Amino acid sequence: MTGDIKRYVERVNEATAYLKGKIEKTPEFCIVLGSGLQVIADSVENQKRISYKDIPEFPVSTAPGHKGELIFGTLNGKEVVLMNGRFHYYEGYHMRDVTFGIRVMQQLGTKYIFLTNAAGGLNPDFEVGRPMIISDHINMMGDNPLIGPNVDDWGPRFPDMSNAYDKSLRELAKQVASELNIPVYEGVYVAVAGPNFETPAELRMFRALGADAVGMSTVPEVIAAAHGGMKLLAVSAITDRAVPDDLKPLTGEEVLEVANKTGRMIAKILAEMVKKL
Ligand code: HPA
Repeated sequence: MTGDIKRYVERVNEATAYLKGKIEKTPEFCIVLGSGLQVIADSVENQKRISYKDIPEFPVSTAPGHKGELIFGTLNGKEVVLMNGRFHYYEGYHMRDVTFGIRVMQQLGTKYIFLTNAAGGLNPDFEVGRPMIISDHINMMGDNPLIGPNVDDWGPRFPDMSNAYDKSLRELAKQVASELNIPVYEGVYVAVAGPNFETPAELRMFRALGADAVGMSTVPEVIAAAHGGMKLLAVSAITDRAVPDDLKPLTGEEVLEVANKTGRMIAKILAEMVKKL
């Protein structure tokens, strides 16, 4: 291993050791809160918050709508940890720092990763304000968290991606959503580096490539989690219509507002899933 990756592994181990000293039980579930999706934290009981800045070697997030803390607690009686604040590639982080939290979860022994995000709806049939369960992705970020020497203790050099978005978790999510009368879509997420929203020509291209939603996160974490053999579910809040023919100017504030409302639905689905798993 080269120095860089060796140091990275040490950093992850240091952060993990610190957290192990602070918690009594290993959380079975980790839920990563996307932009505007902090409402999910409201259902968590017995909260113990640990600020990223107090965790040795943990990166600190800068994106609007992202706080920067881990929230340990219980959800429907199960041990969970929320990552309130994620690291985006567009903030200037190395891909390895974007996925730092996922590696810490892997080292802690967390079984399930639930990722959430705000995304633009490329599929013209999608209504704004609804959740989309991600079935698959297209990586258009032009980078990858696994580039560089492989950490063999964490996973294989060439990880399989055929079930990265675990089929049984997706089936359960759809079943639970239907029981709760929450309409959900299922589709393909394309990840861009950002931070600008896409041009109409780019949106046309992504749709032609088979994507249903577009966003600036999640894919690096999915790749790291797949590498680490973790069971993963990812859900987008469709916050805007990313359809070239009726594209309106979009701001980050609008995205956060719609994400907040959609987040309530996503929170209900995830809480019910945690109960059933
Ligand atoms: N594009 C990219 N990222 C996004 C969008 C979008 O339209 N909406 C929310 N995040």
